[in-house]
Amino acid sequence: MRKIFISIAAVLIAGTAVSTAQQKPAVDRAKADAAVKSAFPSAPADWQPRLVQDETMKQCSAHDNLPPKAVGEAIQKRERATIEYPADGQFMGDWKRGERIAQSGYGLRFTDYPPRNPNGGNCYACHQLTKAELSFGTVGPSLLNYGGIRKFGAAETKAVYEKIYNAHASYPCSLMPRLGSNKVLTIEQIKDVVALVMSPDSPVNK
Ligand code: HEC
Repeated sequence: MRKIFISIAAVLIAGTAVSTAQQKPAVDRAKADAAVKSAFPSAPADWQPRLVQDETMKQCSAHDNLPPKAVGEAIQKRERATIEYPADGQFMGDWKRGERIAQSGYGLRFTDYPPRNPNGGNCYACHQLTKAELSFGTVGPSLLNYGGIRKFGAAETKAVYEKIYNAHASYPCSLMPRLGSNKVLTIEQIKDVVALVMSPDSPVNK
């Protein structure tokens, strides 16, 4: 009996040693929150809520963006519930306006306060979209020919609308901002960007 107990203990200790070696140093969340808050002392009052994590951001931070299944499902459910759909049932607007929105990083910066122009979606900061634009980020996948690959399908078009409105609804702890739910883009602007991604005439699919 004692022998069995000792060998179980040895396995447990060995297991702990392995997992400890693989873990990153723990971050003191309270210190991190305080650092974020103190970094924006002159943020206007209506910006203060942006310095406080909502439930989803808290859960993503707690799990280093890799939530366990149940937490991930709870995030998806909560975020999906925030998606508002176009009143006319149309998911595609004007791709030319969409390209300007995708190019624009205007909005929500100190220099944009008070706002003088509509916000942009800053899509190129993370995605390749067209062949013509050579400057793009790679945090997100390339969207070149995205609509063509998906045969310009209706369900796929709706999915792009939902992705832009709230990326966490399909991918909990996505690195893509919740552009609709966080009121960065309007429903009309999102439709224009959907057209850029999904329209057969758009330079994304040419
Ligand atoms: C800060 C970076 C970032 C920005 C800005 C961003 N995205 Fe994303 N996007 C991502 C990441 C990361 C993914 C992959 C994870 C996911 O699917 O949520 C993604 C996924 C997507 C997908 C799904 C790709 C697939 O594999 O099916 C689409 C479509 C998309 N983004 C479109 C856009 C559009 C359009 C904009 C601008 C309105 C935009 N994104 C802005 C980071 C970003």
